Amino acid sequence: MNRLGILTSGGDCPGSNAVIRGAVLGGALTHGVEFVGFRDGWRGVLEDDVIPLPRRAVRGISRLGGTILGTSRTNPLKADSPAPVSDSLQRNGVEGLIAIGGEGTLAAARILSDAGINVIGVPKTIDNDLGATDFTFGFDSAVQTATEAIDRLRTTGESHHRCMIAEVMGRNAGWIALHAGMAAGAHAILIPEHRVTMNQIAAWVNSAHARGRAPLVVVAEAFVPAGRDAPYSPRGLDTFGRPRLGGIALLLEQQLQDLTGIETRATVLGHIQRGGEPTAFDRVLATRLGMAAVRAAAAGEWGTMVSLRGTDITTVGLEAALGTTKSVPVSRYLEAEELFG
Ligand code: F6P
Repeated sequence: MNRLGILTSGGDCPGSNAVIRGAVLGGALTHGVEFVGFRDGWRGVLEDDVIPLPRRAVRGISRLGGTILGTSRTNPLKADSPAPVSDSLQRNGVEGLIAIGGEGTLAAARILSDAGINVIGVPKTIDNDLGATDFTFGFDSAVQTATEAIDRLRTTGESHHRCMIAEVMGRNAGWIALHAGMAAGAHAILIPEHRVTMNQIAAWVNSAHARGRAPLVVVAEAFVPAGRDAPYSPRGLDTFGRPRLGGIALLLEQQLQDLTGIETRATVLGHIQRGGEPTAFDRVLATRLGMAAVRAAAAGEWGTMVSLRGTDITTVGLEAALGTTKSVPVSRYLEAEELFG
């Protein structure tokens, strides 16, 4: 094996550059493999937008946010055929591909792999909701950023004796809300896996207020209060048909203020959580995943995904990574809930 390709696809994530560096250096130093990068995910594959990735191209990039390769949500199978991808890899002399991405990328990687294309997946999402891996890189950075922001909301809330609400990301799962909420000492954490009523949330807010605290509520974007049929999406849907960020923050701001009589302000952290430098934990995890991906390629373990199990990096079949959202277990939620109010 002489030449591999690498790409980042889907929403960006702090740590992507550390994966690229880990793969390129591991390839050069241990396996005698050179890399090229496809720009903007699968778009670069379909349009032959390729750049060489010698060692010097990855010097010092682990600490950088974003991805030096760019990303997009282009579907490599939009022509309903794997041929455009395999033709491009052949044209560019690429024997196998390392695809860094979330659920959509890994699903496409599996179809391409079943069609005989050499692919290895690296799981990537700040949401930490992918099955078959204990943590995804980027999650720790997002939690750190969210925690710092919530700490700031607390001090302004305390000054004004207000209830402060922070909406964090988490399209399908409440991991960021749970961890940032616990780290910041929130009086209520609201996640999609565990629905509670508006009255319950108001009771937590009132209880904190009665003890002289500025109530702090951390809510995951996908939380829907018990008793409501659908998410509140005053800003409509995005191009993927998902409610735009900010709906639940607005709903809570209005309804909690009405229910409690406490002046309430909501903040949507949004893409702030995806930007910026990765934490040391994410840099180490991402570097190890990149090194493991090139090791798997050298061993011919195509059709797999690299994964963190405990403290070990291992490989699992791509199929194991798909179709299972890693939800917050009830026990983890109830543990956090003991400290609410
Ligand atoms: O999947 C990661 C994520 O950050 C979600 O938490 C969020 O809903 C979504 O991406 C936002 O996507 P976009 O950047 O396309 O608006």
